[in-house]
Amino acid sequence: MVWKIAQSPKVKELFAAPGNAGTARIAQNIDVNASDIKALAKIAQQKKIELVVVGPEVPLAEGIVDHFESIGIPIFGPSKLAAEIESSKVFAKSLLKKYNIPAGKSVTFSDYQQACDYVRKQKPPIVVKADGLAAGKGVVVAASKEEALAALAEFMQAKKLGTAADKVLIEEFLTGREMSSFVFTDGKTVLPFVSACDYKRIYDGDRGPNTGGMGSYSPPVFDSPALQKKVIETVMEPAVKAMAQEGRPYRGVLYGGLMVNSGDVKVFEFNSRLGDPETQVILPRLKTDLVDIIMAVIRGKLSQIKVECSDDACVGVVMASGGYPGSYKTGFPVNGLHDVDKDVLVFHAGTKVGSTPWEVLTNGGRVLTVVAMGKTIAKAREKVYANISRIQFEGAHYRKDIALFKS
Ligand code: AMP
Ligand code: GLY
Repeated sequence: MVWKIAQSPKVKELFAAPGNAGTARIAQNIDVNASDIKALAKIAQQKKIELVVVGPEVPLAEGIVDHFESIGIPIFGPSKLAAEIESSKVFAKSLLKKYNIPAGKSVTFSDYQQACDYVRKQKPPIVVKADGLAAGKGVVVAASKEEALAALAEFMQAKKLGTAADKVLIEEFLTGREMSSFVFTDGKTVLPFVSACDYKRIYDGDRGPNTGGMGSYSPPVFDSPALQKKVIETVMEPAVKAMAQEGRPYRGVLYGGLMVNSGDVKVFEFNSRLGDPETQVILPRLKTDLVDIIMAVIRGKLSQIKVECSDDACVGVVMASGGYPGSYKTGFPVNGLHDVDKDVLVFHAGTKVGSTPWEVLTNGGRVLTVVAMGKTIAKAREKVYANISRIQFEGAHYRKDIALFKS
């Protein structure tokens, strides 16, 4: 997002909080946590910041937008009440049900024993979801009743996710192909952006535990104008209208986590922001100035904007620290960043500047994403994999099968 915003001729100075070694090259990093709303507001006032763009979900759920609006600083993202579309799966489900937006059946429990009794009557696979935010750890797709019961015990008895699992949903297992779809909205106008596919599991062949996302590509191979039309008309527009009717007007990017099966679309989640790693493959396709879109959303003038996107495909592969999504070590030097081709993009996530300004160290689970565009998905993919092996750090792991399709 920082990379895209930096391209706007309207931007004179750019700050990133907390930022990383990548943003340090194009913005000034501010050493404040993205969730420290009060500290961020103070800095924004001191520096006379004219626009704030929120990336992650936690500050949105904690009301960063409401706070900045109350002190008169323009900010892009949904209010606390609107962000509940992501931060409370129980709220999202009730919205879907009430407004007849297609989704799998689900039942909510706050009592552990009742949840267990219900699971015992279900046929696996059984989907167990924590109500609140859990950084990708709140969903278990259980292959057996035992696995579902174990998830309930972890969530509701051992409180592994804290209060995020005070309520738990047991959801119908949806089959099909997963797609992340994005729209911009000012609460009235809904402007289609693009869709992408995310690879959630850590290992090739979609094996191993879920992660935040190990790679993605856009547009999905199964995408079509008819599918996009269906997504907009049956999911996005009704959802935005529903939020307005609920007194929670939604402004920002709305991300639909969708299951597509023979042209049928069902929602399995909403996010209140751009996804990661989807952002890395959708923003390179955006031709319109992102700052123009953002300002139009904030001013309620989105109907005056046209979102233009490149027809080229984009592929991104995440390099992660060894051990991720479990425990991992950080602080390893990242080498070879300058050896990639000029038209290949390397987006940093968990990195930081080392002891010299040009030294980059690992500083998180997902370290960086290597991205390339191409006339076809295959060409973009080839470019990514030809370059990714030039970047190294101790323990680095990446999937070899992102955007790979058997013919
Ligand atoms: P979420 O954290 O809601 O994105 O869910 C994580 C992953 O669990 C999704 O990317 C899907 O692969 C899977 N998932 C979530 N809900 C369902 C469902 N109802 N049926 C099948 N898979 C699901
Ligand atoms: N890639 C999934 C997410 O951002 O939630």
